[in-house]
Amino acid sequence: MSVLGQQFESDLATFRDRVNARLANYVAPEIDSPSKLSESMAYSLLAGGKRLRPILVLLACEACGGDSDAALPAACAIEMIHTYSLIHDDLPAMDDDDYRRGRLTNHKVYGEAMAILAGDALLTLAFEVMARDIQPGGVAAACCADLASAAGWCGMVGGQVADLEAEQQSADRQLGSATDNSGESAGLAQLEAIHRRKTGRLLMSAVTLGARVAQAKPELVNRLEEFGKRVGLAFQIADDLLDVTGDATKLGKNVGKDATLGKMTYPGLLGIDGSRRKADDLIDEACRLLEPLGERAAPLMELARFVTRRDH
Ligand code: IPE
Ligand code: IPE
Ligand code: MG
Ligand code: MG
Ligand code: MG
Repeated sequence: MSVLGQQFESDLATFRDRVNARLANYVAPEIDSPSKLSESMAYSLLAGGKRLRPILVLLACEACGGDSDAALPAACAIEMIHTYSLIHDDLPAMDDDDYRRGRLTNHKVYGEAMAILAGDALLTLAFEVMARDIQPGGVAAACCADLASAAGWCGMVGGQVADLEAEQQSADRQLGSATDNSGESAGLAQLEAIHRRKTGRLLMSAVTLGARVAQAKPELVNRLEEFGKRVGLAFQIADDLLDVTGDATKLGKNVGKDATLGKMTYPGLLGIDGSRRKADDLIDEACRLLEPLGERAAPLMELARFVTRRDH
């Protein structure tokens, strides 16, 4: 993350190490599950990745005056859900990708059945970990409800369906069999709805989980929710941009896939400069929302800025 200040970069590395160590514990090889399944889960979960969502959980918890150690189970849980979503996103039935996090995708190594099941197991483990390891029980329940809603049919899973439907619409248009002729603004509204669900909701949940563990007041949870909403959309805009302008080696995944698959994307609708402006505006707005929190929220703002400046 070389675009960041040196001190902040080393703080982030410390947060990442804490998350990685706990994640490794949660999928330790000695756990009593079929060994191929544990191996397949660990292969994707421990493959690196920016750990942006878990670090957001920890920083949001601290911005609300909480102890980030108490937020580690929630941080790991959201990374498990994110990793499962990547394993499934890469399957031939979805985006059909061969590389992820700098290595072959899960199904390329373990086969499709095991990749589906490793994803299922990571999804369920996320809720086991939060229900068991977050204290007090009422906070654990609130975190489970928050993450389930962000990851589920009205959130990430719903967004993935909308993403695939838009891909199908574009294929139909190419075949001349499309029925709808909506204009640019309808296109943008559809795209924003897809991105808010497929990526935005989980990022929003990252910050609200941190706030919940810190037992923040509802007004503060709402403020972080609004922050997360903007950061989440900006994050997927940046992902779309990197698919056009990014470097596959740095990203650890193939580029140019969105155009090949006929995905609906921000650069496709707004162009590269227009997309960059949109993402920057969202991050500016997000950071303004945190100003009343003062210095405590500075690391969270810095991480939000990284979302649009990143090259991986
Ligand atoms: C990639 O997410 C998939 C999207 C939701 C856009 P990340 O860019 O956070 O991937 P990792 O976790 O760093 O591998
Ligand atoms: C992935 O979006 C969103 C989820 C996994 C929920 P993309 O399909 O754009 O992510 P990449 O580009 O494959 O990482
Ligand atoms: Mg996808
Ligand atoms: Mg994909
Ligand atoms: Mg993408």
